[in-house]
Amino acid sequence: MRFSVISLFPDIIQAYCQTSIVGRAQKAGLIQLDVINPRDFAEGAHRKVDDSPYGGGSGMVMLCEPLDKAYQSLQLSDGEAEKSQRRILLTSPTGRKMDQAYVQKLAKDASHIVLFCGHYEGIDHRIQQLIPETEEVSIGDFVLTGGELPALCVIDAVSRMLPGVVQKFTSVESDSFYNGLLDYPHYTRPAEYKGIPVPEVLLSGNHEAISTWRRRQSIERTWRYRPDLLESIKLTPEESNWIHQLDRH
Ligand SMILES: C[S@@+](CC[C@H](N)C(=O)[O-])C[C@H]1O[C@@H](n2cnc3c(N)ncnc32)[C@H](O)[C@@H]1O
Repeated sequence: MRFSVISLFPDIIQAYCQTSIVGRAQKAGLIQLDVINPRDFAEGAHRKVDDSPYGGGSGMVMLCEPLDKAYQSLQLSDGEAEKSQRRILLTSPTGRKMDQAYVQKLAKDASHIVLFCGHYEGIDHRIQQLIPETEEVSIGDFVLTGGELPALCVIDAVSRMLPGVVQKFTSVESDSFYNGLLDYPHYTRPAEYKGIPVPEVLLSGNHEAISTWRRRQSIERTWRYRPDLLESIKLTPEESNWIHQLDRH
């Protein structure tokens, strides 16, 4: 998977992507990253990348031209095969909200993801006419100062879906959202800390009992914190009964 990030702050992207699992994936050649700074394509002594908004109002708007030129510098092929595997994402609170299903689809269908990072009031809207394949993506209903963190969220979440990036894929499959539920709670050594013991079943060595306990914890957590997720989950009669018991309490 190739990620191309268009950002005024390449160091933020590079620093994160050299670290931990994403860093290892890059070293192993499982992902490739290029970061392009639109300021390198800005005109004038001051290399201006923003200007005041037409129509007045506060804040600045990122200029089309340096962004367009940064994008053109990628020299992307127009071939149908490449185009169909390329996704161009413009980070924005106004975009479709990213979720695990969207991430998994990106990881499955795309081989190249281009990410635009906005700043200030955002990017001149004409960029979407210049590059009509652009899709706006939001990481949640809140506003950040720039698109670097959202771009990194895409890179990180998509990377860990790629074969070989996370060593044990079974751990990814039991993570929250992968199968529609929230994850169960995790514990590690010591078996008791400051008088708080680990649930006994986890020390029992009884794999079936552990698996049932984990499933129940997942369902109960989902019911408590994200009941909306349960609408698309098919529960067994026994699992539905767990929820009825919670309901009664
Ligand atoms: C201050 S924000 C612009 C907010 C914009 N004026 C609005 O109200 O929708 C600057 C940049 O940060 C990024 N950004 C901020 N919040 C975001 C979010 N929730 N999801 C994705 N990108 C976000 C986008 O790249 C955006 O262009």
